[in-house]
Amino acid sequence: MPKVTIDGHSIEVAEGTTILQAARMIGPEVAPPAMCYYSKLKTSGGYCRTCIVKVSKGSDKDPRPMPKLVPACRTMVMDGMEVLNFTSPEVKEARKGVTEFLLLNHPLDCPICDQAGECHLQDLSYENGSAKTRTDFERRTFNKLNVGNHIQLHMTRCILCYRCVKVAEQITDGRVHGVMNRGDHAEISTYIEQAIDNDFSGNMIDVCPVGALTDKTFRFKSRVWFTKPVDAHRNCDHPKCSGKVVLWYQKEEVLRVTGRKDQWGEVEDLPDGKAGFICNTCRFDKKQTSDWTIEGPRHIDRHSVISSNHYEHMVKPKELTINTIKPLIES
Ligand code: SF4
Ligand code: SF4
Ligand code: FES
Repeated sequence: MPKVTIDGHSIEVAEGTTILQAARMIGPEVAPPAMCYYSKLKTSGGYCRTCIVKVSKGSDKDPRPMPKLVPACRTMVMDGMEVLNFTSPEVKEARKGVTEFLLLNHPLDCPICDQAGECHLQDLSYENGSAKTRTDFERRTFNKLNVGNHIQLHMTRCILCYRCVKVAEQITDGRVHGVMNRGDHAEISTYIEQAIDNDFSGNMIDVCPVGALTDKTFRFKSRVWFTKPVDAHRNCDHPKCSGKVVLWYQKEEVLRVTGRKDQWGEVEDLPDGKAGFICNTCRFDKKQTSDWTIEGPRHIDRHSVISSNHYEHMVKPKELTINTIKPLIES
């Protein structure tokens, strides 16, 4: 098995593992940010360049460093490879440049954006962005597209990561949208309207790393950090739906339903190894507590703004019933 060392941490991984996957196996202290790679979507990655790393030693057989920084999500590990991520000033500088480019046309309207508080671009900007912009040019804008009753598309916030295109291609019944044009004219094509009708289209909201695709049924109802996330499940009869969700409560009202995300912001794996995507019925039509079997408060990383006033430490699992969590949801 090839052995790779990333920022001084070594791990042996299976043949064909990418640097990004190996870094995630070691942990978040070495894992580069990834705005377009999504492990549950085939052929994702290679678009955003936020995961770039320096390969300071190619392998034991050929120890020469790679001449340029490489995308960690698209570069396979070789035996003896040594990689620098957060420990490389060159990588940090380049990632700042990538972030600046991603923000070049981005409105950064976080105060009115429903993704705020759970936005990967916000995190990336906070960690790698500059306080000032160096461009005076007008940012690109798009005509608003109506993409149905459930999903709002804000093209101005799109970073063209292609994840929603991969969802349409691989999770729904057939791809009817994609990215048209090039450079700063590139946009998710208007055919997205047709993909939106599919009963798995809501997963595009979950995979979108920014506020370009948001849930119309939740828009402007609350900031996410004022809601109380609770794990729940139901026996959904859709064969591809996991039925495992997070209910986002405000008092007794379920404001939105989402898939369950792991520490990388991706939907969690099910015990059988499949991805826990959910159908539109579970996401948009089941907004009553009585529709669900409540499992308990969702674990939220303490670094997330959503963890403020989070109450999971107040409940012992054996005391967990809807009656015990009800007063906490209302608090
Ligand atoms: S997508 Fe993220 S960075 Fe952009 S406006 Fe929304 S919250 Fe802010
Ligand atoms: S709409 Fe979202 S998921 Fe789709 S390409 Fe743009 S940023 Fe990515
Ligand atoms: S995550 Fe590797 S290029 Fe986007």
